[in-house]
Amino acid sequence: MTALACTGCGHTVALDEPRPFRCPRAGDGRDHVLARTDAPPWQPAAGPPVGNPFVRYRALAYPWHVARARGMSDDAYVARVEALDRAVAAVDGRGFAITPYRAVAPARWWKDETGHVAGSHKARHLFGLALWLDVAERTGLVTAAERARPLAIASCGNAALAAAVVARAIERRLQVFVPPTADAVVVARLTALGAELTVCPRRADDPPGDPCYHRFQAAVRAGALPFSCQGSDNGLTIDGGVTLGLELAEQHAALGAGGLAEPLQHVAIQIGGGALATAVARGLAWAHARGVIATTPAIHAVQTAACFPLVRAWRRVARGLADQLAAPVRPAAADATAGAADDAAAARWLHANAPPAAIDRAVTAAAAARSQFMWPWESAPHSVASGILDDETYDWLAIVRAMLATGGWPVVVDEAALIAARAAAHAGGVPASATGAAGLAGLHALDLPATARVAALLTGVER
Ligand SMILES: Cc1ncc(COP(=O)(O)O)c(C=O)c1O
Ligand SMILES: [Zn+2]
Repeated sequence: MTALACTGCGHTVALDEPRPFRCPRAGDGRDHVLARTDAPPWQPAAGPPVGNPFVRYRALAYPWHVARARGMSDDAYVARVEALDRAVAAVDGRGFAITPYRAVAPARWWKDETGHVAGSHKARHLFGLALWLDVAERTGLVTAAERARPLAIASCGNAALAAAVVARAIERRLQVFVPPTADAVVVARLTALGAELTVCPRRADDPPGDPCYHRFQAAVRAGALPFSCQGSDNGLTIDGGVTLGLELAEQHAALGAGGLAEPLQHVAIQIGGGALATAVARGLAWAHARGVIATTPAIHAVQTAACFPLVRAWRRVARGLADQLAAPVRPAAADATAGAADDAAAARWLHANAPPAAIDRAVTAAAAARSQFMWPWESAPHSVASGILDDETYDWLAIVRAMLATGGWPVVVDEAALIAARAAAHAGGVPASATGAAGLAGLHALDLPATARVAALLTGVER
């Protein structure tokens, strides 16, 4: 059995909750996010991962647990995954499969999501949600009337495209809230997929933050179901994304079978809203808990110099911890674009010296006072990596926790580094966008020794 509980207040969600998306206590200034509480029992299969990840890792998926608890057989669940996967393939021309992981230099690996459904990793999150909706309907957790509720997402890029593909495949209405600056090609594709678009200019009376996100939240209040890639609005969105971390762990471990690879030491992950890194960190942690990998690599969050709210948050939490433990080193000032060496030194010191209980206390205290650590970026950012300019890192806390737990630290990259990383990806045969290659830019900026075993996630294709 597995459970879903709020990482902010501890509220536990019953397995038969018909809308287990958001903590009912959210909105009081504390950081409330529903998340899986445990590493569920899972017997990894031997050898490199093959097949559909949603079949392979189903015993770790929340909808599978709900399905089994409500009397659906494992075979019936697999049949549903396969049927929905065929529906996705009918819409997008490809279904879900383990994505490539390959060495590009000694001690350096790329995981390539550019050929994934809808051209990015995002469909993992949304297919996970689609499986839950399917199970809820088929096991009578919700009535057929629930289908009348539209799905909703705020995005103008990869997440919206993936949501539109998956929503079309499961024959659900999708409302997409986009900025006036949305790319015309993306808008045309969303429209062709049957999505209902609402353009969201900033209104004079809007609170700080993304106007598309405000309209999305209003739609959810009006009855739409959150079909988004933000764990704060739908904690279950992390569930499907975990497959990426599990694949990475299994693929790297499989290299070791020939004596080729020692454990991975660092993974750099580009951060927009934070669901990607939250999910990958969880997948790696679960793989570690089940013995797939002997150690968990250090997680490094990568943001652009144009907008780095998560870097700011990590520095504030890490500074508090360093002060409390009288550390000889401190992270850089929260707003500094430079300061990588200080961040690295502080992260290494904390990893070696901070007791897990002290980290726990610091993260719990941060959850209780969200606005002191995470608030909307003050100016409108511009970057070639336009997909990671979320003005808030909605899923910030889990990533801060994962960096502290693994000894990683965040890194800020500039435009030149992003452009160079995109060129390097293309030269290496991966047609990534600047957003998709931002993790690679981060890996370079980390300036680790050439012998350090490192991986980057190339998460989205250039459009
Ligand atoms: C290609 C790509 N990579 C990474 C990200 C970052 O993911 P997240 O917003 O979950 O942090 C995004 C979207 O935001 C994206 O489109
Ligand atoms: Zn809560």
